Amino acid sequence: MIQRTFAMIKPDAVKAGNIGNIINIAQEAGLKIVAMKMMKYTRAQAEGFYAVHKGKPFFEGLMNYITEGPLVAIIFEGEDAISVWRKTMGATDPTKAEPGTIRALYAESTTRNSVHGSDAVETAAAEIAYIFSGLSLVSLE
Ligand code: RTP
Ligand code: MG
Repeated sequence: MIQRTFAMIKPDAVKAGNIGNIINIAQEAGLKIVAMKMMKYTRAQAEGFYAVHKGKPFFEGLMNYITEGPLVAIIFEGEDAISVWRKTMGATDPTKAEPGTIRALYAESTTRNSVHGSDAVETAAAEIAYIFSGLSLVSLE
């Protein structure tokens, strides 16, 4: 099934100069870019995006990290895009990520793990709507 998923190249990866490398890996996995922008979260915006994690022990660290600098927000489209992008990213903890995955290559730690990807059809739709206006999506036809 052709799907869309929401991705972020997080602040550690932007700072390290890995935007191009990460987009290359995504394109080699067959993912097409439907929308893309550089942005920086305010604390309130970041809390809204990660509301599901509020109250967890890592939440404050996650807020500090995700608001520390610019990131790149992307919508990818492709066959089974949600699971393809999750597989391309690798496990949340980079020491457990498969060799060749983005997190195995670039992540600094479980918190500073370089990329985000939606985990289900419903979260993909919600995250896309939270970050992108319908006007910024391009039709690939
Ligand atoms: P993401 O949502 O960013 O794609 O990552 P994920 O599904 O693999 O991981 P999730 O459990 O949703 O956690 C969201 C982000 O919070 C940070 N985190 N830190 N130090 C920790 O124990 C910890 N656990 C999670 C990571 O940045 C993770 O990607
Ligand atoms: Mg997640």
